[in-house]
Amino acid sequence: MKHIVVLSGAGMSAESGISTFRDSGGLWEQHSVEDVATPEGFSRNPRLVLDFYNARRKAAFAAKPNKGHVGLAEMEKDYRMSIITQNVDNLHERAGSANVLHLHGELDKVRSTVDPSLVYTLTPDNAEIKLGDKCEKGSQLRPHIVWFGEAVPMMEKAMKTVQTADVLVVIGTSLNVYPAAGLLNYVAREIPVYLIDPNEVKIYRQGIRFIRKGASEGVAELRELLKKDI
Ligand code: APR
Repeated sequence: MKHIVVLSGAGMSAESGISTFRDSGGLWEQHSVEDVATPEGFSRNPRLVLDFYNARRKAAFAAKPNKGHVGLAEMEKDYRMSIITQNVDNLHERAGSANVLHLHGELDKVRSTVDPSLVYTLTPDNAEIKLGDKCEKGSQLRPHIVWFGEAVPMMEKAMKTVQTADVLVVIGTSLNVYPAAGLLNYVAREIPVYLIDPNEVKIYRQGIRFIRKGASEGVAELRELLKKDI
């Protein structure tokens, strides 16, 4: 079976009603990254950060996978699929994708601030963490999210995954944030790259196959193209 590796970003979940970051009206227009998505912001005002992620977590729990998520999950019948996502929602998993790697963490998880191996899973009916909610070692819980300036522990695994791709599919990411965007440099030159996005995306690689559509329609078109191309 051919190995298809998908790199998805916030645009993948846009049709599920979850805001992207850099489109007009996006999350980084409404909140300052420094205040809500950095370790310094968390130590300065932990309540603000906890509330920011509590709101995003509840929105993500309320959202449903869109046809793009479902289409990628259905492709597991015909291909070996590896999803590498920058998204922290679990819509790929809820659509049925079995092999999902989260580069930037997971909204439905929280962890100890003193022992990062202590990770706890939240549920829709237990979706918030507050100041004073502590791990079993007595330290404050924090979102299990990779903040700006923090290490990206899954990067090594993601690099290895893209190096074994027969096809790379990039969906719904502006490719603004590293090291995630740098994954393209680990894909062999001869490997075909498809990019699904309704807008122009700056990508420094020859021969990209642009599908200028949203995720739902774009994944449907991708599936048709792959039947012919590979
Ligand atoms: N379908 C597909 N793509 C879409 C759709 C859609 N319906 N709507 C918008 N897009 C595209 C936009 O054109 C844009 O290229 O999704 C992309 C979203 O880009 P960003 O908002 O920058 O999101 P992303 O690339 O995932 O950001 C990367 O930045 O802030 C950090 O950790 C955060 O993981 C995030 C990272």
